[in-house]
Amino acid sequence: MTPGSQDFWEGRYRAAAADGSSLWGAEPNGWIADRVAALAPGAGLAIDLGAGEGRNAFWLADRGWRVVATDFSSAAVEGMRARANPSVEAMIADATSWASPEPVDLAIVCYLQLPADALAAAIGRAAESLGAGGLLLGIWHDREDVARGLGGAMSPGIRTTPEETAAAATAAGLRIELSGRRDRETPAGLACDCLLIACR
Ligand SMILES: C[S@@+](CC[C@H](N)C(=O)[O-])C[C@H]1O[C@@H](n2cnc3c(N)ncnc32)[C@H](O)[C@@H]1O
Repeated sequence: MTPGSQDFWEGRYRAAAADGSSLWGAEPNGWIADRVAALAPGAGLAIDLGAGEGRNAFWLADRGWRVVATDFSSAAVEGMRARANPSVEAMIADATSWASPEPVDLAIVCYLQLPADALAAAIGRAAESLGAGGLLLGIWHDREDVARGLGGAMSPGIRTTPEETAAAATAAGLRIELSGRRDRETPAGLACDCLLIACR
């Protein structure tokens, strides 16, 4: 089974459901939570692409956002639906082809690790989903980790860089507000995240 494939993720979520564990925990990603907290008050409609167990989606819902949380794993989506939160609509969708039919205020893309062409397509669909003034917040495992020896199980081919994500967002018609890297503490040492904030 290829790491990152639909079968791979399906298997991981089914195994976690079987033993009652969580792959990503309950807390939202810290960088996303900080960025959302810094937005002007007034929650709207958000999408979370590759939402997994929905840690970011449910956190947004708790803060008044209406969220459409998508993932291509049916097991992940079943898990989110089981939480029966009326503010979170969980749906099976491939991030490289799905765009919201309703303009959204916020698009979250959190560790959606894809090969460059597929990631550019997903960023393009997220951009297409944004209404005027809408914001894309993206965070990924950076390819820099591999150079630092923190490659983990993920191949360099599904890691990305600020240059690649900013180029994809620009090509999709977004204005870049932030493109860069940040270090993150992990038990194995400092990991490197690739960050993107872009606006329609
Ligand atoms: C590393 S997990 C991150 C989950 C979640 N965003 C989080 O941060 O907790 C990556 C997620 O992306 C999903 N995924 C991978 N490729 C996808 C695609 N093409 N379309 C939709 N979901 C995808 C996987 O099923 C998995 O849930």
